[in-house]
Amino acid sequence: MAGITNTAFRRLCREHGGGLFISEMITSRALVERTPESMRLIKHHPSEEIRSIQLYGVDPKTIYDAVKMLVDEDRADHIDLNFGCPVPKVTKKGGGAALPWKSDLFASIVNAAVKAAGDTPVTVKMRKGIDGDHLTYLDAGRAARDAGVTAVALHARTAEDYYSGQADWNAISNLRQALPDTQVLGNGDIWSAADAVQMMKQTGVDGVVVGRGCLGRPWLFADLEKAIMGFLRGEEFSTSTAAPNLGEVADAFYRHAQLLTEFFEDEGRACRDIRKHVAWYFKGYPVGGEFRAQLSLASTLSEIHDLLNTLDRDLPYPKEEAEGPRGRLGSAKACSLPDRWLESRELGDNHRKELELAELSVSGGV
Ligand SMILES: Cc1cc2nc3c(=O)[nH]c(=O)nc-3n(C[C@H](O)[C@H](O)[C@H](O)COP(=O)(O)O)c2cc1C
Repeated sequence: MAGITNTAFRRLCREHGGGLFISEMITSRALVERTPESMRLIKHHPSEEIRSIQLYGVDPKTIYDAVKMLVDEDRADHIDLNFGCPVPKVTKKGGGAALPWKSDLFASIVNAAVKAAGDTPVTVKMRKGIDGDHLTYLDAGRAARDAGVTAVALHARTAEDYYSGQADWNAISNLRQALPDTQVLGNGDIWSAADAVQMMKQTGVDGVVVGRGCLGRPWLFADLEKAIMGFLRGEEFSTSTAAPNLGEVADAFYRHAQLLTEFFEDEGRACRDIRKHVAWYFKGYPVGGEFRAQLSLASTLSEIHDLLNTLDRDLPYPKEEAEGPRGRLGSAKACSLPDRWLESRELGDNHRKELELAELSVSGGV
């Protein structure tokens, strides 16, 4: 997740449980140009044994060069290609979730990545399509399989859905059935380990992808690891979940701030960056608006430390109050597209120039 899954947050999550923790989306163009921001975003900590990097690109040649660079310079063990971005400034130019509509371009990008990656596994993440009348996921899934990807992940919403409503897990089942010989991962609305097991049972996917559910809840990975390993062993699901008291939440928050300081090499920047996490960590805990506001103003680690020390560490886990949806929700909105984009599933010369801008409009990280 852009702006979230930097090496600091990935380390914190990994300290709680297992999984494959993927970088923020990085544009292939910025990477090929070795912009300082993209070079910082691809860095991993030595404790990250599987270095997963997510790339976004609109041009097969640039994607090829970016993947080749990562592999030749031994900077990644897994590369994920993102085709799910619904942000209007990206889709308006034909990028992100609008791109798989151009099936020739989509296939060329994935083929280029797989070719450049050699033995390094490549996976693809995508949405269902542009809207209910312009679905792309089954074609795109087959094209990705034919290109030789290791897994295909589906965020079961269209670009038009944005983050609204419920993810359509039936679409995940459809993709599973369409690609019996490829690993399929399901994504959308996994807020707990119970949701993850439910998705695996209902759709038959090989694994799940978690986005918003882990915001402010790195311990979700402990629950997921336990539940999924149990599920794979054929055990009955037990509902026991991590139930951190307020002291444990405060410790995780502080550790996150410390790790961000290490990542940014800038304490002030880390303290500003962690502000967006305050509401997520303390969701459901009776800490008061004043405390949240002060934490959002802290500019040093020691201020954060002192504020956290004012909390009653023994306050128990507030159960449902701390669970359920969090992060971006919002309502559906018509997907902005280039003029006449939907008229053909092949990329025409009229759209090539515009498409180049689809990558430029997304900076190093998003
Ligand atoms: C703040 C934010 C940033 C995101 N950035 C990315 C990204 O860089 N790459 C990506 O593939 N998905 C990104 N996503 C989408 C999530 O990975 C995920 O597909 C989506 O939120 C649905 O899953 P969820 O219901 O588990 O959150 C982002 C989502 C949010 C809320």
